[in-house]
Order: sequence, then C-alpha cells, then structure tokens
Amino acid sequence: MTQPLPPHVEVAGLTKRFGSFTALDDVSIRFAPGCFHALLGENGAGKSTLVKCLMGYHQPDGGSVAVDGREIGIANPRTAHALGLGMVYQHFTLVPSMTVAENLYVGRDLLPQVIDWRSARAEIDAFMTRMPFRVPVDARAEELSAGEKQKVEILKQLFHGRRFLILDEPTSVLTPQEAEDMLGLLAGMAKTKALSVLLITHKMREVLAFADEVTVLRRGRQVTGGAVADFNAASLAESMVGATAFEATTKRDGARKGGEEVLEVVDLTADGDRGNRALAGVSLTVRAGEILGIAGVSGNGQRELVDVLCGQRHATGGVVAVDGEPYHARRGEMRDHRVGILPEEPMRNGCVRTMTVAENLGLHTFDRPPIARGGFWIDHHVLREKAKALIARFNIRTQGPDAPVTSLSGGNVQRLVLARELDRAPRLMIAANPCFGLDVAAVAAIHDELVAARNRGAAILLLSEDLDELLALSDRIAVMFGGRLVYETGIETADVGALGRHMAGDGAEAA
Ligand SMILES: Nc1ncnc2c1ncn2[C@@H]1O[C@H](COP(=O)(O)OP(=O)(O)OP(=O)(O)O)[C@@H](O)[C@H]1O
Ligand SMILES: [Mg+2]
Repeated sequence: MTQPLPPHVEVAGLTKRFGSFTALDDVSIRFAPGCFHALLGENGAGKSTLVKCLMGYHQPDGGSVAVDGREIGIANPRTAHALGLGMVYQHFTLVPSMTVAENLYVGRDLLPQVIDWRSARAEIDAFMTRMPFRVPVDARAEELSAGEKQKVEILKQLFHGRRFLILDEPTSVLTPQEAEDMLGLLAGMAKTKALSVLLITHKMREVLAFADEVTVLRRGRQVTGGAVADFNAASLAESMVGATAFEATTKRDGARKGGEEVLEVVDLTADGDRGNRALAGVSLTVRAGEILGIAGVSGNGQRELVDVLCGQRHATGGVVAVDGEPYHARRGEMRDHRVGILPEEPMRNGCVRTMTVAENLGLHTFDRPPIARGGFWIDHHVLREKAKALIARFNIRTQGPDAPVTSLSGGNVQRLVLARELDRAPRLMIAANPCFGLDVAAVAAIHDELVAARNRGAAILLLSEDLDELLALSDRIAVMFGGRLVYETGIETADVGALGRHMAGDGAEAA
C-alpha cells in the first residue's frame, strides 16, 4: 500500500505582531516531506506563535505559507487539517468525560449525523493494532495519567490522517522512557516518510537524538538553523539565549540542618478520579532547611498528593500537619504558615485567566496591606509596582503588568506562579515539576531560587519526574509507587539504578 507523502510545507518571511509587539519577525523555513525538524528558543521566543500561524489560529501580518508548492491562506484550523497539518499542544484537549475511543473519533472535523459506534470502534481497533503504543481505549480521558493523555493526543492526530505533526513540548509530561519511546516511534515514521514532525522542545537531548534539522528563534527572529549534525548542546544553547553558562550556581549549604518539622503527613489516604485508591497511606516529614524530593513515574499518586496538600482533594484518612498544627490547606492557613504552592498545569490551577499579570502576581496579597488599604481598597499603584519588581527579578517575558495573563507564553506562566509563591518567603514550598516547560536558562534560575529558599530555612517538598533535577536539588529522595512511598535515601547514598528499580516497582526484589 503506497501512502501519499506528507505535505511539503514552506514558510517565507513569516511575521506576526500583537499590537506594537512583534512576536515573530521574518521567519523562513522549508519542511520537506519526512523531515524531523526541531524548533528551539527560550520562553517567549515565538515558537508557539509560529506554529499557531501554520495551524490557522493566528493570521500572520506578513510573509506566506505554501503547502505543496501552492501559497495558501490558512484561515482556520480546519483548513490546516484539510491540508494534513495537525497539532499536539502543551495542554490537553481531550474531553474528560468521554472514553479514549470516543475522543479519538470525535476529533474529526466533519462528523456524520449519526455515529455508527460499532463500525467506528472496529475502525479504531484496526488503527490501534498498527500503533506501537497502547492506551486503554475504554477508559475515560479523565482517568488517564498525563503520559497516557499525551499519547492519546498524538494518536488522535494520526487517526485523523494528519501527516505533518506539530508537537509543542509533548514530552514535558512523560517519563524519560516514555518520551524516548514516543520520539523514537515518530522518528521512525518520519524516516519512512509516513509523516513529517515539527517538534518544539527545551530538551537538547531530544533534539540531538531525534531531529535531523533545527531552527533556533530568539525574540521572534530566526538566529540560526540547519542540520542537527552541525550543532551540539552547547552551541544550540548559546544561540538560544546568547550565553553559555546555564549551571545553577547556588549550592545547598552544608549538610542538612536538622531543622524542626514543618510538614508532617501521616498515613494519608485519598481516592483518585476513578474512585481508585490513589494514596494508600503516605507518611513523610519535611524539615526546615531541607528539600525532600519525591521521584516516581507519573500516575503513582503524586498528583493526588499535591491535590490534597493544596486543598483540592479530600483525604479519606490520615493527618496533615504544618508546624505541628492540623492543616487543611485553607487560604488563611496557607497565609499564616506561609505555604507556597506550584501546582501542575499552573495556568489552570494557579492563575485566574481573566485577570492581568499584576493581578495574578498579587493574588495572595491583594486583600492585605499595603496593596489593600482600609480592608478592601486595592491600591493599583502598589500592585503594579510590586508586579514590576517580580517581573524583573524572575525575568518574566511580558508586555507589562497590565497584560492579560493569557498573553504569556507557557514558560512565562510557570515563572509567574513561581515568582508569586517564592515571593511569599515560604516556610513550606510544595512544587510539582517546577521546571516543566522552562528553557535552560530559566531552569538554572529556578533551581537557584529553590535552593536559596531552602538555605534560608524553607522546607521544600519537590515532586519531579526528572531524576537529574531531584539528584541536583534534594537532601533526601523518596520514591512513590502505587500510592505509597516505597523507598527513601539520603542524597549521599542516592543511586540512579536503585531509584529506577523502585520507580518501576521492582524494589522489593532488588532490596
Ligand atoms: N495573544 C497574544 N497577545 C499578546 N501577546 C502575545 C500573545 N500570544 C503570544 N504573545 C507574546 O508573544 C511572545 C511569543 O510567545 P510564544 O507563546 O510564541 O512563545 P514560546 O516561544 O512558545 O514560549 P514558551 O517556551 O514559554 O512556550 C511572548 O512574548 C508572548 O507574551
Ligand atoms: Mg510555547
């Protein structure tokens, strides 16, 4: 069976402005059928803007897009889809209450009046047998782990015959192994010209291992590009941000201080979204001046643990105490104990979409002096000045404090929430994948901030799927598996092999 080639896509002189701000400035790239092209750039460089122009979400202000040699106006995503272009986003687009099969099917632009579910299901089953990764087809989307959801998003595009696949940081939510598998699979399909891939990522390793071409954007401009073979991690990083040093420099000062217990969790249980027992008796302690890292493959209860500690999920049993007092994650308790939280999906769980950057930065303090006077009078001048200081300190790329928070790029939303939470001078900081979606320079800066907070005496609970990050920052590392902490080690004795075995659930045999 000969399949048609993926479309030949070419952008020339592409330019996009938002008001007086130029987000994309004269960018030209040719994507030959079967290419695996990586798009790199620091947070706010214009990567998402470029691909949104290709997908018809934005209309460019200058330049052209040609598909198979014909210059074409992509008025909306439907036009893009008809040309074989498909996109997988940084966030999920699945309908939570529908099953995987239903989600795959309804992604179609033109649905028949009556869906014959039996033949639809047969079609999906046949399609799935050709796919090298498995997902539970009958589970509801809301029951899936982040990694599973991401796979369904990709399957959905392939199922609908899209042959030019744009992936906007698709692996941020996957474990390293899952990411390797997925990218390897896509690279294999690109090699046989079954599809073309345009990958946006901050992970140099992924670019070097899987892509064959690369384009680097900086502040909307194309600064370099070409065959990946002509670059290395250092040269790519340098063209991204125009500097070479991205090492976090703040070191944990000395051995653990053995500070007082700040967070104490005893035998915590909670149900997951499927009514399953997601937390099966978690006990942990975080002391002042230490970072406790929680390692684990996503979907082993980390999200539910953070939910409970943020007050977004009921515990079915157990006790949580902060500074020796019972703690239910109420707003007042968070303020009094200075608890900072960086949740997963910070735009959704940590921001108010209808508010500005300054208002989001002031969320914890807008009703307190000095921003609020006389109890409720919000001093917008103070709010804006405070926001400006945080924008500068945390290098948040934005048009200013009055910009809507929805105009921020993905990485800059992450920085905003971290800035706000760290500004609280937290006594307890709970951070879930704090560097998700951040560029290399930002990762180093955030690592510095977390270690500095720890050195100032904060207790930090750091959940991360990135073992390198945990090994770099933690004083102790525990592994979460099946809703329990199954292993713990001090950083001095931490060993990647042992951690990996416990993450895979093989700890008992290995011990
Ligand atoms: N709808 C919009 N209105 C105003 N400004 C916008 C809008 N969308 C994006 N921008 C701005 O354009 C710039 C580029 O944003 P874009 O989302 O393309 O960045 P990015 O390279 O994808 O970054 P990240 O790695 O953080 O996802 C940013 O400064 C952003 O604030
Ligand atoms: Mg982006």
